[in-house]
Amino acid sequence: MVAWRENEGKSKNFLNTVLVGSMSLAYNRELKMPILEGQSLDFQSHSPEQTNRIGVRLGELLDLSDLVCLAGDLGSGKTTLAKGIARGWGSLDVVTSPSFILVNQYRRPDQQILYHVDAFRMEGVEDAYLIGLHELIEDKAPILLEWPERIAAMLPSERLWVTLRWVDELHRGLQIEAHGLRYERMLDQFRRSAFGG
Ligand SMILES: Nc1ncnc2c1ncn2[C@@H]1O[C@H](COP(=O)(O)OP(=O)(O)OP(=O)(O)O)[C@@H](O)[C@H]1O
Ligand SMILES: [Mg+2]
Repeated sequence: MVAWRENEGKSKNFLNTVLVGSMSLAYNRELKMPILEGQSLDFQSHSPEQTNRIGVRLGELLDLSDLVCLAGDLGSGKTTLAKGIARGWGSLDVVTSPSFILVNQYRRPDQQILYHVDAFRMEGVEDAYLIGLHELIEDKAPILLEWPERIAAMLPSERLWVTLRWVDELHRGLQIEAHGLRYERMLDQFRRSAFGG
């Protein structure tokens, strides 16, 4: 494990933290920023607000048809991250956990839609088909999906997969994995936007 401080500069107020790198990151002494090696990025958030801001940076990059899977235990911060993503994408709607409704829909002033799905109560892919998730996936609208592990068998292999991990009351580990070229590009843009460079 390697620890370092984020680079000074445009992202100064964004991740005001010491980042803990994993095997997927390396420390560049000159640029002082995390380097993407392969297709994943690991770091820690030190507050819900920070997780929200990370979400905003991700949401700004969302394109039509993107699938962002938010995995992690109960209370690990998936909905907190989703709130930031929806805001960064441009929705002014209130983001709530879709635990009981299963699918929330947020709008942008240009009438585009962002879906927020919670698969926690789904027992398998049959339930996902019942609510028409396969049609949403083919729709031209981005999807945020909590508890994707429950229905992994029906998900496209190309996706952004975020895993949140409870560290302590205020800290969460985030691992963002890109599967497929589109998401590798997105992750690279996210790294630049969040950490500079
Ligand atoms: N660094 C952090 N990042 C995100 N949430 C944090 C952080 N520190 C504390 N929290 C708190 O943890 C809780 C996370 O709740 P949230 O609803 O986002 O989790 P979740 O993963 O969506 O849970 P569920 O599986 O029930 O849907 C919130 O109460 C939030 O304030
Ligand atoms: Mg949630």
